[in-house]
Amino acid sequence: MNAVELRQVTKRFGQSVVAVDAIDLDVPQGSFVTLLGPSGCGKTTTLRMIAGLETPSSGEIRIKDKRINELPIHKRNLGIVFQNYALFPHKTVAANVGFGLKYRNVAPDEIGRRVARALDMVRLPGVEERYPTQLSGGQQQRIALARALVIEPDVLLLDEPLSALDANLREEMRVEIKNIQHRVGIATVFVTHDQGEALAMSDHVVVMNKGHIEQEGPPAEVYERPQSAFVASFLGNANFLSGQVRSCVDGHAQVALGNHVLNATTERPVQVGETVTVVIRAEKIDLLPPGQGWLPGSVADVDYLGALARYQIALGDGIKVLGLASLKDKPLAVGEPVELRIDPRHCRVL
Ligand SMILES: Nc1ncnc2c1ncn2[C@@H]1O[C@H](COP(=O)(O)OP(=O)(O)OP(=O)(O)O)[C@@H](O)[C@H]1O
Ligand SMILES: [Mg+2]
Repeated sequence: MNAVELRQVTKRFGQSVVAVDAIDLDVPQGSFVTLLGPSGCGKTTTLRMIAGLETPSSGEIRIKDKRINELPIHKRNLGIVFQNYALFPHKTVAANVGFGLKYRNVAPDEIGRRVARALDMVRLPGVEERYPTQLSGGQQQRIALARALVIEPDVLLLDEPLSALDANLREEMRVEIKNIQHRVGIATVFVTHDQGEALAMSDHVVVMNKGHIEQEGPPAEVYERPQSAFVASFLGNANFLSGQVRSCVDGHAQVALGNHVLNATTERPVQVGETVTVVIRAEKIDLLPPGQGWLPGSVADVDYLGALARYQIALGDGIKVLGLASLKDKPLAVGEPVELRIDPRHCRVL
């Protein structure tokens, strides 16, 4: 059974804005599903419809097989954490975390026990009597998570919960949230525009663009086999090279790029002479000394990124490709000649 299902769900604002356009979404029990996409693509609107903060213009939302379109938010049994975690500043941690239980008329001693258990879960035991301002940003975010989990929700909804944190803490909290979700086994819908976050945390990534779903699947599949230029460029550094098909046999195509011929793989039938786009991830390109690869070029530009360097390689004929290489060795210098080697499996016809 799915914890959450959306069927052909659309949300319009006024006459002209279609924020979410007829999407279908399945969130299996216990799974961690991420909605990933650029600003304005409809992630928050989707989450708010599941939460009951927006009503769909059409379509159906089901939680545990029950249609909930008309069910008010307080009857949905959901745990929600937003970007600005919005703890009550003048209430203690215990009062903050226990808020949803008090509202549900749970007895005070039972509230105390469940608050303590929720604080254990987020690894902040014993902070019941503190106030939010006496905690760090990451700790406050964990309190917000404890507050969402304490009611034992059917689904956990997280909208960019890490975006207010600094880079190191974000990485730490990624692992933390994923571990907690795993331990509790609660179906989670996570919203982010950060591809690293999506790839690191999710069982299933849903890439959204302009209100619809571009592609979905396990992180490695979406990353390795993007089905559109949008997905390829939104996740990671990708090259898009346009060329003519010279031959195509059994999913192996030869594609002419200027004077060069590239061996590529294709999942769809292509015709000889057809113009196609080949997508190649920057990190799949080996940059070798002259004589050791097969596509000659020279370094046109270098971006030093710390552990990696990002190179622009000019191949002649006005063709440039982007390469990413680890900096185990000395970085290449602008003007240096190189030869590229690319495994045909990593050259995919779109
Ligand atoms: N209450 C509203 N009234 C009118 N338009 C809205 C409203 N809420 C959202 N929109 C529009 O709907 C579209 C989707 O917005 P949404 O907030 O879902 O995007 P998002 O993917 O969460 O973006 P971000 O990454 O910036 O948070 C946007 O074009 C936005 O301007
Ligand atoms: Mg948003």
